[in-house]
Order: sequence, then structure tokens, then C-alpha cells
Amino acid sequence: MHEEIAALRPCLEHARTERRAGRDFHIGRLDGHDVVLVRCGIGKVAAATTAAVLLDAFDARALLFTGVAGGLGDGVRVGDIVVATTLLQHDMNAEPLFPRWEVPLTGRARFDADPAWSARLAQASRTLAASNAHAEAATIHEGLVVSGDRFVATRAESDQLRALLPEALAVEMEGAAVAQVCHDFARPFGVVRTISDRADDAAHGDFQRFVRDVAAPYSRDIVRAALRLA
Ligand code: ADE
Repeated sequence: MHEEIAALRPCLEHARTERRAGRDFHIGRLDGHDVVLVRCGIGKVAAATTAAVLLDAFDARALLFTGVAGGLGDGVRVGDIVVATTLLQHDMNAEPLFPRWEVPLTGRARFDADPAWSARLAQASRTLAASNAHAEAATIHEGLVVSGDRFVATRAESDQLRALLPEALAVEMEGAAVAQVCHDFARPFGVVRTISDRADDAAHGDFQRFVRDVAAPYSRDIVRAALRLA
């Protein structure tokens, strides 16, 4: 998101910007790594385009995806952090040709994040919780994150997702698309999300302020700590 780029770009050394596919790609050094930062946009297609450009045009060795999500799992509260170990597109349904949620021709519905990057993101999140007064109450969760082209903003819809996918910790709109593209390119990736809402009727309240004041600094600090662990 814009707020995340605004928080992280000033940390880049030797920064320069290249424009591709309607996006600004910020290239530079961060905590000992060559990195490219980009605002992905919203939704699975935006995520897939962005991931493909990073992997192909920039030959990215790994992708880290940050942002916010709606909490679905019991005890996944606003301000908590979720690291995806596996991801699924909850709105993929090519039945009866393929089983529900399976991505046609890949033979799978769930795409695993890279265990090493997920472990670094979880460790970095714990470091944040230990060092940031706002984050000290945050619980770090690891597990299934589901993605779809819908902002889930009613209790009825989140109840339905919980009933169908009881182990889902959080819902967002991009992660599983990034996972599918990284699978195609055989490149590792990690996804970390700050919980901004409970995907219920109150989900839209104060969203921008939460992103600017809470999620963007969390993303910056988690990415930097994870890079230092690599
Ligand atoms: N991102 C943050 N909150 C979300 C929600 N409730 N649904 C989908 N994506 C989200």
C-alpha cells in the first residue's frame, strides 16, 4: 500500500525508481540486500501482475508481501500479525471440472510459502512485538491465509468463510495470487499481514488511519528485521 512504501522508501540506500506496468518500482539497498519495493495495488490480478514483473523483469530471488487482512480465526484480533504458511484463493471455483478451490492445471488449491522466509517473518514479528509498545499485545499467528477479489465486510460472509475453511486465520485480496505466480516461477515467497479488522460489518471503520499509523510501520520494521535474519 502507499503508506507502506512511504514508510519504507526513505530507508533505501542508493534509491532510484523505474516505472513499469503502471507502477513505480523503487530499487536500492536495504539492510545488506538489493531490494525492489513496489505498491502492488488491490486484488489478485494486480498482485499477479506485480509479482510477474518482479520475478521476470527484475529477476527477484524472493518476494515478501506485506499488508493488512481481516481476521477470521478465533483469537485473531485487530493489531495481531499473521504469517501465511499456506494460501488459497477462496473465490476460485471451477466445479464441476475441478474440485472447489483447486487452481486448474496446477493440481492444487493450497500454495505453501517458503518455510525459511516464513520463519524469518515470524521471528521478525516477535521482535517487533517485544520492542514496540503498541505491538506488545499483538499475538503472532502462523497458518492458512485465504485471498479473493472481495473486501469481506459483513458478518454473514465471514461466517460463511469460517464454515467452509475453518482453519483460515485471515482473509485478504492478494496473497494467494502471489503464491500462484511464485509457484509458476519456482521462486520462494513470504506473506505477512497485520490484522486491520474482523471481516465483519465494522470492517471499513478507520481503515486508512490504521494502515498509516499501525500497519505501515509494522510492515517496515518486520521487513527490515527479516532481511537482517537472511
Ligand atoms: N484486507 C483487510 N481487511 C480485509 C477484509 N475484511 N477483506 C478482504 N481484504 C482485507
